[in-house]
Amino acid sequence: MRFVDKRVIITGAAGGIGQTLVDLFAREGAQILATDYQGDKLQALLPSWQAKGYKVVTQAGDLAYKTDCEALVEACVKQFGGVDVLLNNAGIIPRGNILETTDEMWFAAMNVNLNAVFYLCRAAIPYMQQAGAGAIVNTSSVWGTEPGPGHVAYCTSKGALACLTRNLAVDHAPDNIRVNAVCPNEVNTPMIRTGFARRGLDPDEGVAQLNQSVPLGRIAEAEDIADVIAFLASDAAGYVCGAVVPVTGAKPVYG
Ligand SMILES: NC(=O)c1ccc[n+]([C@@H]2O[C@H](COP(=O)([O-])OP(=O)(O)OC[C@H]3O[C@@H](n4cnc5c(N)ncnc54)[C@H](O)[C@@H]3O)[C@@H](O)[C@H]2O)c1
Repeated sequence: MRFVDKRVIITGAAGGIGQTLVDLFAREGAQILATDYQGDKLQALLPSWQAKGYKVVTQAGDLAYKTDCEALVEACVKQFGGVDVLLNNAGIIPRGNILETTDEMWFAAMNVNLNAVFYLCRAAIPYMQQAGAGAIVNTSSVWGTEPGPGHVAYCTSKGALACLTRNLAVDHAPDNIRVNAVCPNEVNTPMIRTGFARRGLDPDEGVAQLNQSVPLGRIAEAEDIADVIAFLASDAAGYVCGAVVPVTGAKPVYG
């Protein structure tokens, strides 16, 4: 029970890793503001969370908008009285090299993967300062630190997110606010499965093939990533600050 009464914001809570984060943190006692722009999916999930006795409220919001980001922090404060943990998990993956990347794809990646984190952190950190402690865990990607091919907007946004993480860690360690990031390689969630489907491939077959490319023998499941996020958010990681942690099963981006 690492998160008893901790006030936690989880973005992308209707997605693969996000749903797993809600389960993990709620089971360990957290009070959660779960948010996603798929409001209907959040509403569909809420009864099962409530049935399990989770302390979860939901709020739909589009992270592409500053006002929605700031409203999420205010909603958490109104509901629970503060913010102790911020999990910037939501993300999108526009696919293409620079010649295939439209202005819309580029700015969408920057808005959701980077700018939203800036707005959410800027709004949440004063409440963490007031409380005398806080933890932020950003979900970057190994493609942010070692860019893969054909995803220029995604890789650039995730690289900037890793850099933002280290900046905030240095600036706010004196406030006892720890900021860290996880960098997964492939994870078996809708993000990767819809990519196969879009290319006319069977997602199960695609995942089975990808499994063979990982030294540990399989791509990550959402739980593998959520476990590391939870560790970084917990007191057990009390001296981990400014870390950008690869979670890859030893799979390099190249090689
Ligand atoms: N799946 C992978 O292979 C992989 C690899 C590396 C990093 N990641 C990162 O992990 C994080 C979680 O991804 P996932 O695999 O669970 O994917 P997912 O697509 O299942 O979940 C992402 C969630 O973010 C939400 N979202 C997207 N745009 C939004 C917006 N504008 N406003 C609010 N919510 C929005 C989506 O609705 C979705 O529920 C992302 O940041 C992703 O970049 C995933």
